[in-house]
Amino acid sequence: MALPGTPSPPRIERFSSPEAACRSLALEIAALVREKPDARLGLPTGRTPIPLYRELARLHREEGLSFARACSFNLDEYLGLAADDARSFRAFMREHFFAQVDFEPRNVHFPNVAGEPEREARAYAQELRAAGGLDLALLGLGRNGHVGFNEPGSGRDSSARVVELADQTRADAAVAFGGLANVPVRAITLGLAEILEARAIRMLAFGAAKSEVVRRMLLEPASQACPASLLRGHADLALLLDEGASTGLPR
Ligand code: GLP
Repeated sequence: MALPGTPSPPRIERFSSPEAACRSLALEIAALVREKPDARLGLPTGRTPIPLYRELARLHREEGLSFARACSFNLDEYLGLAADDARSFRAFMREHFFAQVDFEPRNVHFPNVAGEPEREARAYAQELRAAGGLDLALLGLGRNGHVGFNEPGSGRDSSARVVELADQTRADAAVAFGGLANVPVRAITLGLAEILEARAIRMLAFGAAKSEVVRRMLLEPASQACPASLLRGHADLALLLDEGASTGLPR
């Protein structure tokens, strides 16, 4: 048992499937929200968390799990998209989660991408600080080691800011945008500093395509070249992996 605030090794939990991992994490989130109804959750997008949002919506629908007093802070949002663009992270979250559960709209937070970007990024960090920081940061993992949009080169003390998206990140998003040329080049992201200040961090990674970055994150020296590796010192970090994402790790 690590003392609060002292680095401890991340917990690695292996599951038979993404659905099994997401059922386990959904139960942990449900327990947190029931114990702390005003819990502040950092939320990711991407394919990885879709089964998690599906299970949380089921717990809300079938078991009365309520988010009515909880707060959400999405990790990031693209810059340069129209406010009603169906490819925005706002649209993703509405489709996969918020339309199916009972967050109060005033408690759902995204970076404001309609203002001056750097000022809005700083304002987002301040908004999160004023709310008391994250109780739980839920993360996916980019294939180049990014978390949120903290791309390679991001430091532990990086705060919310405007970022240039890496070529690999944009390539991975090209299908969703109907071609690379349509993929935004910049975004606003919460920084590693805000993520590391969360009381707990839970990372999901599934599939063989993530096995190499999971191995780099956990087994190579912590480095800005793999920003996820900089999370290893956190006092309460757990990775929930399926078999495919675990193949780079010792049994
Ligand atoms: C995007 C998001 C990240 C997410 C990553 C991986 O870059 N900004 O938060 O972790 O994609 O997405 P996927 O889960 O689809 O592999």
